[in-house]
Amino acid sequence: FGQSVHYYEQVKSTQDAARELAEAGAPEGTLVLAEEQTGGRGRMGRGWVSPQGKGIWMSMVMRPHVPIHCAPQLTLLTAVALCRSLRRLTVLPIGIKWPNDLLIHGKKISGILLESAAEDERLKYIVAGVGISVNLSERDYPEELLTKATSLRIEAGGAFSRSAIVKDFLAEWETLYDLFLQEGFSAIAALWESLSVSIGQKVRLITPQGELEGVPVGLEESGAIRVERADGSIVTIFSAEMGEPLS
Ligand code: BTN
Repeated sequence: FGQSVHYYEQVKSTQDAARELAEAGAPEGTLVLAEEQTGGRGRMGRGWVSPQGKGIWMSMVMRPHVPIHCAPQLTLLTAVALCRSLRRLTVLPIGIKWPNDLLIHGKKISGILLESAAEDERLKYIVAGVGISVNLSERDYPEELLTKATSLRIEAGGAFSRSAIVKDFLAEWETLYDLFLQEGFSAIAALWESLSVSIGQKVRLITPQGELEGVPVGLEESGAIRVERADGSIVTIFSAEMGEPLS
């Protein structure tokens, strides 16, 4: 990963830049990094705060030879790699909220956005976008985000080297990706469950089919999450917005 790096001082979104490169045939592992994004994108059509020089805003081209339904597994894999790497480097209590937010004390420090292009049920490419709020201070966030978002610097009380994080994370990501391609998703799922803060916490989930409450109990092979409801029944959720833990 990162054999070919495209570095920008400023872009609208590294996702768009990486997607253009992918369409033009860029090989797997092509990495786009930017100091600043003027139109950083989050999941569910939201924005992503990406001020100049304060974080890691990156997108990578992947070309795995797997069916299209494996894309969610790669999102979870990316979250595991990032969580392991950041825990190692910062020693902060970082956990994964399903599917792929990284939290410290309930506040978000990183987000992952996977976008894929497919042809005949096979993946043509994936653009994996990762935003890591490394050295942002409270002033960098709009007021209304301060209860929900934080940075490594705010939490640790000191700045971190962005290049050291990128290097370590890319190595971890590549190791887990090789494991996934050789052995499938189950080893990754076990790691995800061990790093997750969502398992065992009662939550409200807003799914395309409606709202429900329950306790996430584990991952499916597909990357979906199994949720136990008050009556003991288990439902499998593929896509949802997960709320704050309920007591
Ligand atoms: C989320 O949690 O909603 C996902 C956030 C993803 C942000 C990253 S920053 C690099 C890449 N470029 C973007 O425009 N978005 C992703």
